[in-house]
Amino acid sequence: MKKNDIYKYLNLYRDLYGDNIYLDSNVSENMPRDNSNKLDEYLNSIKDCLECPLGKTRKNIVLGMGDPNADIVFVGEAPGKQEDLQGLPFVGRSGKLLDKMLFSINLSRDDVYILNVLKCRPPDNRDPSKIEIEKCEPYLKKQLKIIKPKLIVALGRISAMTILRTKESLTNMRNQIFDYEGIDFLVTYHPAALLRNPNFKKYAWEDFKLIRDKYSNV
Ligand code: URA
Repeated sequence: MKKNDIYKYLNLYRDLYGDNIYLDSNVSENMPRDNSNKLDEYLNSIKDCLECPLGKTRKNIVLGMGDPNADIVFVGEAPGKQEDLQGLPFVGRSGKLLDKMLFSINLSRDDVYILNVLKCRPPDNRDPSKIEIEKCEPYLKKQLKIIKPKLIVALGRISAMTILRTKESLTNMRNQIFDYEGIDFLVTYHPAALLRNPNFKKYAWEDFKLIRDKYSNV
């Protein structure tokens, strides 16, 4: 929710109750949330991380981008070359495809939050190692805790496996709604996999229709 919504909400309360604010648990639950400061503060506290060797090889840490109050969060695997250079997630070829997929369901980057399991680029884009995941995953968890999305979409098997603690194949995980700490969780192809195998795009479109349907109900 935007600051304007909060002002509108408070003005409505002022019209009803004057300058005193009476809050009960019900009211605070219904208040539009604004996580920007909390998320900024948190990201600032981890931006110099050197918990694993990737801290020494990265050019930039890639923490995430988008609406800190988004109802939907997309989680990729790890930054690639372009992301490392720019400090932003999904800005290379995969990102361009992700933008198109979002557009196909009437969303843009500004409507969602995009982040990765790993915050630093593994050299030569190799798969994240166990220790890197172990060190980085608490950051992802805390980000999700602050953002409190209604729907999480894992992009690719590594992201889904890490978050759900499973070794299932992507095919088995697709088309199902999992529960991640009370939040709906869907799995779809990583855009890089779609660039390598355009034949999968028709299945990804099915996934995105499910995401659209779920999203319109949150
Ligand atoms: N691939 C990912 O998983 N994340 C990015 O940010 C870019 C490419």
